[in-house]
Amino acid sequence: MKKLITGGTIVTAADKYEADILIEDGKIAYIGKGIVDDEAEVIDASGQYVFPGGIDPHTHLDMPFNNTVTDDDWESGTIAAAFGGTTTILDFCLTAGEIKLMDAVDKWHEKAKDKAVIDYGFHLMIGDLNEDTLVELPKVLEQEGITSIKVFLAYAKEFQATDRTLYQAFKVGKEMGAVVMVHCENGSVIDELVEEAKALGHTEPIYHALTRPPQLEGEATKRAIELAHLADAELYVVHVTCKEAVDEIIAARQKGYKVYGETCPPYLTLDQSALEKPNFEGAKYVWSPPLRPKEHQEVLWNALKAKQLQTIGSDQCSFNFNGKKRLGIDDFSKIPNGGPFIEDRFSVLYSEGVVKGKITINEFVDMISTNAAKIFGLYPQKGTIAVGSDADIVLFDPRKERIISAETHHMNVDYSAFEGLKVTGEPISVLSRGNFVVKDKEFVGALGSGQYIKRQVKKEETKEVVTQ
Ligand code: URP
Ligand code: ZN
Ligand code: ZN
Repeated sequence: MKKLITGGTIVTAADKYEADILIEDGKIAYIGKGIVDDEAEVIDASGQYVFPGGIDPHTHLDMPFNNTVTDDDWESGTIAAAFGGTTTILDFCLTAGEIKLMDAVDKWHEKAKDKAVIDYGFHLMIGDLNEDTLVELPKVLEQEGITSIKVFLAYAKEFQATDRTLYQAFKVGKEMGAVVMVHCENGSVIDELVEEAKALGHTEPIYHALTRPPQLEGEATKRAIELAHLADAELYVVHVTCKEAVDEIIAARQKGYKVYGETCPPYLTLDQSALEKPNFEGAKYVWSPPLRPKEHQEVLWNALKAKQLQTIGSDQCSFNFNGKKRLGIDDFSKIPNGGPFIEDRFSVLYSEGVVKGKITINEFVDMISTNAAKIFGLYPQKGTIAVGSDADIVLFDPRKERIISAETHHMNVDYSAFEGLKVTGEPISVLSRGNFVVKDKEFVGALGSGQYIKRQVKKEETKEVVTQ
């Protein structure tokens, strides 16, 4: 059935204007003032912003990690994402040396297909490459419409790639037009610092931060930048947290290197002192790279404002506090790394960024949706409000005030990292390809209705727009 959104203020990365939107067959069919269509269901958006659905380029749902598995799967994770104004996620499909890449992708499809309530794609994570997987990788990227490869330079015992593998990934990325996403920390040196701390008897969560200093993020960022440049490949640095990494990214971009950067809401709003909370509560804030001292927040906001960082990922990777986080009660290095953020990414950026005057509303849309669509090959199908685009739309009440709490969130986790944070602005209704997933703050979607999106290699002119 057709739908007609009336009376709202449409906001894209470029514009803000009052107009109606006619939706037909899941697509935006017409935008204009005073549209009349007797067959359409009318949705009154008076007083609301009409945003393109958020695109979260960084999630880990139902992911085995740190000897356990994340607590949000594709059902609770995508429902929470929708409540939070996100209509597309890009999740990391893990691979391991001994299994075929295609088998790993099939496994990720199995996890998602009967559960996802919003659209999704996969980044393909590579830990190592052998003769077989080097041949298989380009084929899988092509066949599955995957335009992004992920490499970890951290978690030495689990996911970390060698510099040789990283360079090989860049070469494949270059050949296939895929961007290579890198977790930039020096996992081997971190393991040494962890052993030093433990030898001194340190067990508390704060040592997670103290054994992963910003220098090691800066060093790995610089290394990834140089290896990407050597291969003439595109690099996307995930979850940038600190001045040391931002400086490297800015220097590289000023030299014309093809480097993008992402940061995440907790790094913009929380700081390292959270890991010092008593009664093991610091474990709620253990993720990697860790929270930094407060002064790094301003560096990140400035880099976003200056377009040196382009996107906001949630890095959703949740573990219950009265559950899996307790694996590290006697040893900080055993606390599963990650936090619950998928639901709050959109609102925290809007409230802390737009309402507090740090970014404009158009910059907000760019960071929360449009830039990710461009970088990862979803644009203009997604990431904007335009005729022909998917009708992925968020109706957002900019006046609504609320307090973030685990009591009211939809993630399958017993705590919120933003507990008590007052935010202004709330997604009221969310449509995915023209169908309500959330209507007047009630879930009305259907499990399995989310579609896997095959993505397209970016066109040269689209790259320009994001690089500027
Ligand atoms: O601690 C984190 N960030 N967990 C998820 C895995 C990763 O490094 O992105
Ligand atoms: Zn990471
Ligand atoms: Zn992550």
